[in-house]
Formats: sequence, structure tokens, C-alpha cells
Amino acid sequence: MMNMYSQRCAELVATPRTWLVTGVAGFIGSNLLETLLKLDQSVVGLDNFATGYRRNLDQVQQAVTPAQWMRFRLIVGDICCLDDCRNACLGVDYVLHHAALGSVPRSLEDPIGTNAANIDGFLNMLVSARDARVQRFVYAASSSTYGDHPGLPKVEDEIGKPLSPYAVTKLVNEQYADVFARAYGFQTIGLRYFNIFGARQDPNGAYAAVIPKWTAAMIHNEPLWINGDGETSRDFCYIANTVQANVLAATVTQAEALNQIYNVAVGERTTLNELFTAIRTALAPRFPHLLEYKANYQDFRAGDVRHSLADISKAQTLLGYVPSHRISAGLIEAMDWYIKNLTV
Ligand SMILES: NC(=O)c1ccc[n+]([C@@H]2O[C@H](COP(=O)([O-])OP(=O)(O)OC[C@H]3O[C@@H](n4cnc5c(N)ncnc54)[C@H](O)[C@@H]3O)[C@@H](O)[C@H]2O)c1
Repeated sequence: MMNMYSQRCAELVATPRTWLVTGVAGFIGSNLLETLLKLDQSVVGLDNFATGYRRNLDQVQQAVTPAQWMRFRLIVGDICCLDDCRNACLGVDYVLHHAALGSVPRSLEDPIGTNAANIDGFLNMLVSARDARVQRFVYAASSSTYGDHPGLPKVEDEIGKPLSPYAVTKLVNEQYADVFARAYGFQTIGLRYFNIFGARQDPNGAYAAVIPKWTAAMIHNEPLWINGDGETSRDFCYIANTVQANVLAATVTQAEALNQIYNVAVGERTTLNELFTAIRTALAPRFPHLLEYKANYQDFRAGDVRHSLADISKAQTLLGYVPSHRISAGLIEAMDWYIKNLTV
């Protein structure tokens, strides 16, 4: 029997739509672009390359046919500029809003920059999408919104106080989206991502996420640090699951599924110590130096929550979301990409 995701993909191929992916040159945005083009959709992309890369778009171009690539139009622009947002929304059916400045530590160092992109930019996009009569606005929310709430697993309507400026911005996004749904009848869906990983996630820079950062360190035989005692845990979610959630959210038809927030994760917890071992084991056959490779430990990082684990039953029930990859299967695919791209 066809699952909901396969069914929606088949419907999209039969009746192609026009999508706007903001943050299209970034990690998640470029993966959304690749899947949508492979489904013969038309895609407008908006990005200012603050943290995204042309090479991500080049890789998508290589992965699709010339005819599919012709259905992509890139707008180099800034979501902090209302005209850029209005221009990007013209003629669009669905918005997948992913442009933002990610990273908890970045937001602690630069709360004003994070606020501008993540709140002012978000509001510009909401207003532009509403005025352009876009059918639905799906946006990247974050598990950081759970803040200091001690409950595990995390359920969507039980949140605590934010622990970083980044978390504040993501909470405000949800509040704006909710108000736009109630005040203007505009359809929004927020996807609370839990530590997404996969191809094209940037391993470089001070704000790199843990999986690409550790993978690069191991491949290059450089030292690696674990923050705290390594028993901090996360619900790591492979990019294919994230793409699936976006397609389902944009196309779901039941009224009760709209104007909601959903956890996007796998529903399994992995400690940093376990993650270290899993990545080392996955890479060791190709990099024998890793047999002797050890992690270093340093202080806990400010703003980090201790444990994160999602209850994904809401997305399963209302969206038909079924994660296709658990962490182990995702790591195998992701490692293939890092080995190819970090060893040239
Ligand atoms: N990766 C994760 O684990 C994770 C977890 C929770 C939430 N998110 C959210 O998902 C979204 C995508 O994250 P990602 O991991 O792909 O990050 P990323 O940094 O790879 O992608 C973000 C993209 O947005 C673009 N961008 C930033 N500011 C912009 C601006 N002012 N105007 C236009 N473009 C701009 C960047 O250039 C980049 O291409 C973000 O909203 C992020 O907060 C990601």
C-alpha cells in the first residue's frame, strides 16, 4: 500500500505547483529544492548567501535533469528587504520558509543580527505571502522552543522558557504564524525541527552543527571536543524525514491539520557519546587512523538543553508522517556524502 508521502508525491507530479523555498542555498533549503525539482515542480529560491553556498545549488543542478533545473529560478535577495520578499512570493502556491540565522551560540554573540533575520525577516515573509495569496506558509520552527521545560518526550503544547535569543526568535515565529492564521485566515504550519543532519550541512565555522563538525574532524584526524560529560542527548533526524514533513505539511487537506505546530524528529534519543562512537564506527573502514581516535571533553555550552526527545505522534496522526530513516540509516547516507566532499 502506498504511504501518504508517496501518494502526495505522485499527486504533485501529476499536478505540478510553484513553490518558494527561502534559504534555498542552505542545508535544508537545497535538499528541499532537490526533491521538489525531482518531482517536476517549479521552484523559486530566495537566499542572500549569508550562510548558504552556490556549491549547494551546483550539486542540486548535477542531481536533476536539465529540464528540471530549468524550473528553478533563483532570487539573490534578503528577507529583511520587504520588496525582495514580495517579489519572491509572486505566483507562488506554497512557501517553505527556511531562511534564518541558525545556531544558539551565534544568537548569544549576535542577538541583534539573529533577531533581524529571524523575526523581522519572518514577518516580511508572512506579510508578503499573505498579500500574494499564497495557499500555505510552512516554516522552519525549532525544538529550542521547548527551552527549560523538563518534560520528555517533548509534546507540542508544553513548552518552557527560551534559553537563548535564537529560541526567542523561533517562539515569536510561531506566535506570529498563529496570529496570521486567526486574524487573516492565512494557512500556516510550523515544523519544529530536532537536530537535522545530512548532505550539504556545513562542517565549517564556529557555528557548525555537531554531526558535520565531528565528521570533518575525524576525517582530517583533527581534535574533537564533546561539551560536558557526553551524556547530553538529542533526537537526531535525517534530512529525508525533514523533506517528507515539508511536502506533507504543504499538501495536507484536513482542516484540523492546518495552523498547527509539529515536531519533526524520529522519536529516538542518542547521547553525544553514542553519536561519537556511531560516526567513528561508520568512518573507520575508510580511515584506519580512527581506530585509535579519542574524543576530548570540555565544559557544557551555555544555552544548550540537556536532553531533547520528540513525541512525533501528532505529525504521524495529522500529517501521515512516517520517518523513513532512523539515525543509523541516515548516518550511512550522510557519511557517504562527507567522504566524497571532504576528501577531494
Ligand atoms: N539544521 C537544523 O538542525 C535545524 C534545527 C532547527 C531549526 N532549523 C531551522 O531550519 C532553517 C534552515 O536551517 P539550515 O540548517 O538549513 O541552515 P543554513 O544556514 O544551512 O540555511 C539557512 C539559509 O538561509 C539563508 N539566509 C540567512 N539569512 C538570510 C536572509 N536575511 N535573507 C535571505 N536568506 C538568508 C542562508 O544564506 C542559508 O542559505 C532555519 O530556519 C533554521 O533555524 C534548523
